[in-house]
Amino acid sequence: MEIIKEINKNILAKDICFIPTMGALHKGHVSLIKEGKQSSLPVIVSIFVNEMQFNDKEDFNNYPKPIEEDIKVLENFNVDYLFIPENDYVYPKNNFEKVSSGELGKQFEGSSRPGHFDGVLTVVNRFFELIRPKIAIFGKKDAQQLFLINEMVVNKKYEIEIIASPTIRESSGLALSSRNSLLTNRGKDKAALLYKVLKSTKKDFYSTGKTNFLENFSSNYLDEEIDIDYLEILDLATFSKPAENTEEFIILIAAYIENLRLIDNIDFKLEGK
Ligand code: PAJ
Repeated sequence: MEIIKEINKNILAKDICFIPTMGALHKGHVSLIKEGKQSSLPVIVSIFVNEMQFNDKEDFNNYPKPIEEDIKVLENFNVDYLFIPENDYVYPKNNFEKVSSGELGKQFEGSSRPGHFDGVLTVVNRFFELIRPKIAIFGKKDAQQLFLINEMVVNKKYEIEIIASPTIRESSGLALSSRNSLLTNRGKDKAALLYKVLKSTKKDFYSTGKTNFLENFSSNYLDEEIDIDYLEILDLATFSKPAENTEEFIILIAAYIENLRLIDNIDFKLEGK
């Protein structure tokens, strides 16, 4: 594996598969890498903790940064290039495009994390300009991020194939996340409730057709000290309220556990459609 700080001509000359990360790699990231390897293109993984997408300085400072362990993981999976850029290379002074995430960027995750998605799109756009990948892989775990990136690729007419990779979970149902390492064992048990809430919400939706979950949230989960920020069902194709002709749905959840913000989602096709 070659570790690089800047993109060179060699890389630009290749059709390449790109997997952006912020490090603290776990099995979710590894599944993206395995998917990348299947493309049979050389794989470049970036590790860059993008301060621009953190609306909270403390969250940025606390974000885990175990670079030595990460390097071992990537070597194990035969990644071709590890790209660890400096801030000045990603964001040359006054010389980079700030991408707006528009109205959707202010909703759901964006409403609690102002500027977050502008920061995500700006860095992903910079990486696309620098690397010019043929394929880029993102996790479905970050559904709103994935939707906005797909939208950006269409708007900017990038010829990049975006692959959406399924969410990897612990056996408890807890979606893997770099932030989980900051939870206590008790916190992890509580965090596993997010997936349970998603599944029971899907069941409720099937039996009642109702979409205003949080207002009718009569389940026991609230007793368990999980502080839910939003629980929403959307049309997966538009990322807005479901309509009569919606075929694929997504249920999103965000909650605070031990002061950490966790997100999760499930998507599904309505049976019989
Ligand atoms: P990060 O949180 O490190 O995630 C990197 C990629 O791994 C994202 O595409 C994310 O959706 C995916 N991922 C995270 N947890 C996953 C899981 N449990 N199962 C499957 N995939 C998972 O997302 C970011 O970094 C940043 O916003 C980034 C896109 C790198 C821009 O800075």
